[in-house]
Amino acid sequence: MIGLSKKIIIGITGSIAAFKTIQFISDLTKEDYEIEVILTEAGSRFVTPVSIQALTKKRVYIDVFDDDPGTITHVDLVKDADAFLVMPASATTIAKLAHGIADNMLTAAYLAATCPKVIAPAMNVHMFENPVTQRNLKQLVDDGALIVDPDVGLLACGDVGKGKLAKASDVKMILEYAMSEHPLKGYKVVVSAGPTQEAIDPVRFISNHSSGKMGYAIAKAAFTLGADVTLVSGQVALSPLPFIKNVSITSAQDLYEAMIEEAQDADFIIMSAAVADYTPATTATEKIKKNDSDLTLSLKKTKDILYELGQKKPKGQIICGFAMETTDLISNATKKLTKKNADLIIANSLRTAGAGFKTDTNIVTIIDQDGIRPLEIMSKDELGFVILAECLKKREAQS
Ligand code: CTP
Repeated sequence: MIGLSKKIIIGITGSIAAFKTIQFISDLTKEDYEIEVILTEAGSRFVTPVSIQALTKKRVYIDVFDDDPGTITHVDLVKDADAFLVMPASATTIAKLAHGIADNMLTAAYLAATCPKVIAPAMNVHMFENPVTQRNLKQLVDDGALIVDPDVGLLACGDVGKGKLAKASDVKMILEYAMSEHPLKGYKVVVSAGPTQEAIDPVRFISNHSSGKMGYAIAKAAFTLGADVTLVSGQVALSPLPFIKNVSITSAQDLYEAMIEEAQDADFIIMSAAVADYTPATTATEKIKKNDSDLTLSLKKTKDILYELGQKKPKGQIICGFAMETTDLISNATKKLTKKNADLIIANSLRTAGAGFKTDTNIVTIIDQDGIRPLEIMSKDELGFVILAECLKKREAQS
């Protein structure tokens, strides 16, 4: 599993974006990663070892000759590393790394490292687009490094174009992918997430409290584990995930159509969306004006998407549903397993503290044909990996 006690080497080079890496390091240390930082001489002009040391509680390395007696730091430091990240990576450092030039602590340690490598370039658009830089990046990719493409935007030099350091969340996703095994490689995972909205008129809708956090965590975990991921999401406050296919939907009918389409060649389907069971029988084309009487809405049933997917399920496809209940959790969830022809149901109770819609944690019980397995409280991120591991076990048991 991703997370605790992984050792990451972070190299910082001379780029104005270097200050963003300080925040990134701060965030990683809160997750208990062990971080070792190397600065190039130019990098040390932009950020100081003092601020980094305060976060990592470790010495920051700059000078390749500054070894303690009996140590060869650029070799020793990287021996047990789980990943080597260069963030931001300047054009000069990229060129050196591509050609095995080991003339400073960062480039020497990179050459000595055998762990997965991730490079997050940041520079002026013309420097980035220069065929020399592109050739060097291609060389690094051919040598096995993962590149986190820079964003397009207003650059420090005033130019607009590609060269802005990628968002920290994008770098983190690639870093986690680099450190993980990829048991889902070659599989397509389709995840639905968030609420549906059923329009009453152009201004109002019926919906629920789903935040989408659980589904997004599963989609992120599936990417980390190497899957080809499609996330079909209702309207949520979360940003679309990078490196995967994001499909945005609004109503239960939209979700139904998207899921039927995406399910055709899916190996795994995880229905974590909170789907409206009823939708207004008619949607008013103009805003409904109030008058002196009460208003009664007539509702019609929506399609049960999980049920429909269960009926169409091709051989080998694994379908995982959710059940959020307020009473009789296990018996209600078990009925859904059979009725909807799902392989797994992840059941949780809205009445349990630490579980539910808006929380970052969840407390679930996994229900399948083999029985009922209650799990301890865990973060939704962690649970994403657990659910996918269960799905993979089912798939392997079938083949
Ligand atoms: N689901 C679905 N289509 C619907 C309703 C629910 O695909 N129209 C899926 C959900 O995404 C979830 C599972 O079915 O994976 C169970 O959803 P839940 O709302 O707990 O159950 P319902 O089937 O709607 O039954 P009830 O509301 O009576 O509990």
